[in-house]
Amino acid sequence: MKVLTTLKASVAVLALTAAGAHAQGVEVLHWWTSGGEAAALNVLKGDLETQGIGWTDMPVAGGGGSDAMTVLRARVTAGDPPTAVQMLGFSIQDWAGEGALANLNDLAAEQGWDAVVPAALQGFSKHDGNWVSAPVNVHSTNWVWANTAIMAELGIEQPTSWEEFVAAMEAAEAAGYVALAHGGQAWQDATIFDSIAMGVGGPEFYQAAFIDLDPEALGGAQMVEAFQRMETLRGFVDDNFSGRDWNLASAMVANGEALFQIMGDWAKGEFINAGQTAGVEFQCFRVPGSEGTVTFNSDQFAMFNVTDEAAMASQQTMASSVMSPEFQVAFNTVKGSVPARTDISDEAFDACGKLGMAQLAEASASGTLFGSMAHGHANPPAVQNAMYDVITAHFNGEFDAETAAAEMVTAVELAQ
Ligand code: GAL
Repeated sequence: MKVLTTLKASVAVLALTAAGAHAQGVEVLHWWTSGGEAAALNVLKGDLETQGIGWTDMPVAGGGGSDAMTVLRARVTAGDPPTAVQMLGFSIQDWAGEGALANLNDLAAEQGWDAVVPAALQGFSKHDGNWVSAPVNVHSTNWVWANTAIMAELGIEQPTSWEEFVAAMEAAEAAGYVALAHGGQAWQDATIFDSIAMGVGGPEFYQAAFIDLDPEALGGAQMVEAFQRMETLRGFVDDNFSGRDWNLASAMVANGEALFQIMGDWAKGEFINAGQTAGVEFQCFRVPGSEGTVTFNSDQFAMFNVTDEAAMASQQTMASSVMSPEFQVAFNTVKGSVPARTDISDEAFDACGKLGMAQLAEASASGTLFGSMAHGHANPPAVQNAMYDVITAHFNGEFDAETAAAEMVTAVELAQ
């Protein structure tokens, strides 16, 4: 009898908590503000809505999330953390190290996350063995997005070497097109540099320079060559590149104004949002030289420690939704990314999505999958920002290639 009363009481508490949670909902801090990103975010909002979870939007524009992370710090310092935050790699680890993140172990155990989330992602989702964030996707950053009609008009085949890549851009420029659509913002410069460095030095160099932070690699001949290639690319951007948002650069390719954009596969979200189809109006291929490797980042939702029980319940519901196989398909087919679970069929994905999934699996199996430096998955934010500064200063002509490589060594040393 007593057991029954206790049971009834806990059922009542649970029901109350659930009702409260629905009223409370989640406040989500994120940087998904472009057309494609917003479309993907709506998939998540809609999913939570069907479960009665309200959504308070806290968007902080700025690709790559640096500005969002500044706002987050201010919110937490003021004692008012958002319930859920879009976050990347090492930032998750930093916040978990500060004890700011909620523990998702029970949910993870119940839903068997350990068995389906790839090890490379778990390294960021877990801190001290505890689940602290729910991965939404895997993006890869070493892609070229190309306008099919311009390629056809100029007889350009998919380039398979740096030389062919440069020749294609020369042809586009000669025909009056913008050869390389780019936005001059530090994180975009770094996104290009990521792939170019991989293309020059391959996996061993990438590991040594960006992950092990080996001064010899940071300041060596391959780093100099990577900066020289950046100078070549700088010659192919248009006069108005400075400060341009990445999605506007994607639009230049979509509109037939520009031949190529080097960007992570969130760019695909923009093409899709403009009604275009992979392999038809636009093409995707790996940055020449980086074929066989994948530099990745994974957007995750970290749940911040909150005291309100209803908010805590909403966090669990949100994390559970994010990890469901149905959501992973619905969201990632719109976002341009691929699922953060290994047990999902590629059937619903377009040509670039299928390619991305296959290449991710291959790279993971062959040891050529690396966390992206530009997107917070190779080294901690302080080091990443130090690298951003040098890469951008060089791109804007402040340093020559040799000086830039030397500056990488100094900047990284000071940041550690
Ligand atoms: C990345 C993020 C992507 C995409 C991109 C541009 O850091 O992982 O989801 O949003 O920034 O905003």
